[in-house]
Amino acid sequence: MKGTTTRAVVSVLVISVCIYTCIFIIFSSSHEPNFLLNSEYNGQEPSINRSSLNSQHVGLDQDSETEIQFRSFKIDDINCKKIIEGDDMEINKFINRTHDNIPDNETLTRHTMNCEAFRRIYGYDDIVNTEAEKQFPIAFNILLYKDVAQVEILLRAIYRPQNYYCLHVDGFSPDHVHKGANSLADCFDNVFIVSKTENITYQSFQRLQADINCMSDHLAKSDWKYLMNLPSQQLPLRTNAEIVQILKALNNTNYIECIVGKRIISSRYTYKYENVYGPGGHYEIVMTRKRHKDPPHGIVVVKGSAYGIFTRAFVDYVVKSPIAKDLLEWCRGVLSPDEYYWSTLNHNPHLQVPGSYKGKCPSTFLLPVYVHWFERGTNVTKCPGKVLRYICVFGIAALRQLINNSRKELFANKFELQFSYAAIQCLTEWLRNKTLSPQPIDDEFYRKLYSERTAPKIA
Ligand SMILES: *[C@@H]1O[C@H](CO)[C@@H](O)[C@H](O)[C@H]1NC(C)=O
Ligand SMILES: *[C@@H]1O[C@H](CO)[C@@H](O)[C@H](O)[C@H]1NC(C)=O
Ligand SMILES: *[C@@H]1O[C@H](CO)[C@@H](O)[C@H](O)[C@H]1NC(C)=O
Ligand SMILES: *[C@@H]1O[C@H](CO)[C@@H](O)[C@H](O)[C@H]1NC(C)=O
Ligand SMILES: *[C@@H]1O[C@H](CO)[C@@H](O)[C@H](O)[C@H]1NC(C)=O
Ligand SMILES: *[C@@H]1O[C@H](CO)[C@@H](O)[C@H](O)[C@H]1NC(C)=O
Ligand SMILES: *[C@@H]1O[C@H](CO)[C@@H](O)[C@H](O)[C@H]1NC(C)=O
Ligand SMILES: *[C@@H]1O[C@H](CO)[C@@H](O)[C@H](O)[C@H]1NC(C)=O
Repeated sequence: MKGTTTRAVVSVLVISVCIYTCIFIIFSSSHEPNFLLNSEYNGQEPSINRSSLNSQHVGLDQDSETEIQFRSFKIDDINCKKIIEGDDMEINKFINRTHDNIPDNETLTRHTMNCEAFRRIYGYDDIVNTEAEKQFPIAFNILLYKDVAQVEILLRAIYRPQNYYCLHVDGFSPDHVHKGANSLADCFDNVFIVSKTENITYQSFQRLQADINCMSDHLAKSDWKYLMNLPSQQLPLRTNAEIVQILKALNNTNYIECIVGKRIISSRYTYKYENVYGPGGHYEIVMTRKRHKDPPHGIVVVKGSAYGIFTRAFVDYVVKSPIAKDLLEWCRGVLSPDEYYWSTLNHNPHLQVPGSYKGKCPSTFLLPVYVHWFERGTNVTKCPGKVLRYICVFGIAALRQLINNSRKELFANKFELQFSYAAIQCLTEWLRNKTLSPQPIDDEFYRKLYSERTAPKIA
């Protein structure tokens, strides 16, 4: 109740300010086009006569409501440059600050009802796009289950008109998440909802199938070169132009992590796992006492990350090849098969999978994404943020480590909208600055990755 009342009061205030702003624009002789961009909502009740509102300006009013609200989400008094440079005074100012005016599903759903205004005001229409990027479209899978407002921030950070974005919303997610994602996707020709939705439980086969469903949909679009799958709480460390340059350096090969030896956790596939269904289609994954059969086609199991960088030909193979389908069937009995399927396909040279790796397991550098993991028993005070299930959720103090050229990964995981709000703003501001003045990066590191991974190692 209290929340509703507060929202009502805020709405009235915002609408009042809008009316005031519109009247000001209409009657002022100022031709400053950035007036709205620079205007600040000072929270004071404007003194105007409401009944003089002319109904023909209603469209404009909604526009400025979107504009004012969008601007109000910005933390004004932060100096991101100093934060990134590691200025302790500036970091300490924000490290424990909480933010109550942050984007939420309601606002986003309302704003995406007018796509033209949404795209213009949120900045989608004036994204800088180089010729090299236009010639090298990328397909993305984004798997989400909550917080569409955070997904919008991720989308905005990686959006280019020539790329493709498949959103898979977990079948178990509440209706409002599906509605929010649909409404967002409806504003773009190149953002779509997956055609087949999976109900996902942690470590389930369905998690892997969701990515494959998106891949299959992506194949209907003809011109993309590479595909990356992303979780929703991840953000890029590179601009799209830089990602394009790095993908080109991989020379049409996949980049998928390779883990063999002790870290392979063989109990996840030597025993058979099954879904046990309960009410509402909910299920648990249980380990049976039965031994799982060996993988088909003489395939040797290799472990890796659920997230990879896949060439178009690899994706085509995954969706169409009978061998890939046989391995996928085998994966139904495996726990966390997304951590085996990609890597196994990529590291069995006898299958001749497109873009796959021909030598022995290469270095374990994880190009797609930087994750700050904590092994059990290690010192978690080293996390510049907070620790959640052995992963560091990045806060404002993490930026100095993430944003300098010592990190070579394309993305970083994880950020939480509430907890990481200032960090998200600064990271995206820094990215946008780099987008506005694109500079080629030194791609020697990435070209070396490619040649190291393709050249078979001796011994
Ligand atoms: C507001 O405007 C209406 C119509 O223009 C007028 O009749 C009314 O007296 C005004 N009210 C005030 C408080 O100025
Ligand atoms: C932030 O909060 C933590 C935990 O409560 C505290 O240890 C630290 O001193 C605070 N930092 C600042 C700059 O206020
Ligand atoms: C926003 O999310 C909350 C829960 O997080 C939900 O109760 C509410 O219905 C959602 N509203 C919309 C418009 O999606
Ligand atoms: C890239 O791959 C092609 C085809 O496999 C090969 O001919 C070429 O030498 C590779 N380029 C580099 C720089 O290794
Ligand atoms: C997926 O979950 C939803 C929500 O619980 C349920 O309505 C639906 O039947 C489930 N679908 C399948 C295929 O289990
Ligand atoms: C953990 O790291 C912090 C900061 O580097 C250090 O002060 C602390 O003594 C370490 N604790 C342990 C148990 O190693
Ligand atoms: C990059 O991060 C490392 C590790 O935190 C730090 O030692 C180094 O000074 C940073 N470099 C720049 C240019 O900020
Ligand atoms: C981004 O560019 C603006 C305008 O030049 C500058 O004021 C700001 O400090 C830059 N932000 C970062 C994080 O470098």
